Amino acid sequence: MNIVEQSREITPINFPKLNTELWRYRDEPGRLIPLLQSAQETYGYISETTIKYISGVTRIPESEIYSVITFYKQFRLRPLGKYLIRLCDGTACHVNNAKTLKEIVEDELQLEGNDTTEDGLFTLEMVACLGCCSLAPVIMVNDQTYGRLTPQKLRKTLRKYQKQEKTEAKSQ
Ligand code: FES
Repeated sequence: MNIVEQSREITPINFPKLNTELWRYRDEPGRLIPLLQSAQETYGYISETTIKYISGVTRIPESEIYSVITFYKQFRLRPLGKYLIRLCDGTACHVNNAKTLKEIVEDELQLEGNDTTEDGLFTLEMVACLGCCSLAPVIMVNDQTYGRLTPQKLRKTLRKYQKQEKTEAKSQ
């Protein structure tokens, strides 16, 4: 697919910010990271099409773009799940067993090294502080905060969302 065809896929209409930045910064060194941030901000992740498009405009090889994306943890190659689980590993949560909670999330959701479940429902993101340290250890699921978590409470919380999803799926 040539650059014209690619630019039709991500048109200035549905992707105005990235387009503006792409063409403005296409010849500047060090432009790739802000461009990728902009793409992710717009789409929630960086798709193959986006990578091809950025590569076409900037002339940075796709392989180089992939290396940058996989090097920096902030970038995602898959869309965010319906439920974004933010698990805090800031100091207060860290000393209150955040590591164990992370293992429980990975186990319950069978993440197997990925940050998003196969069905695209859950994404796990580690964060530095959720701003409610007195409730440590804390997670957020979308906008809902769950504090003073124990392994049991965490499993129960995750299962509640899984059950909710199953019920919704059945009713459709
Ligand atoms: S360290 Fe976890 S909420 Fe602040």
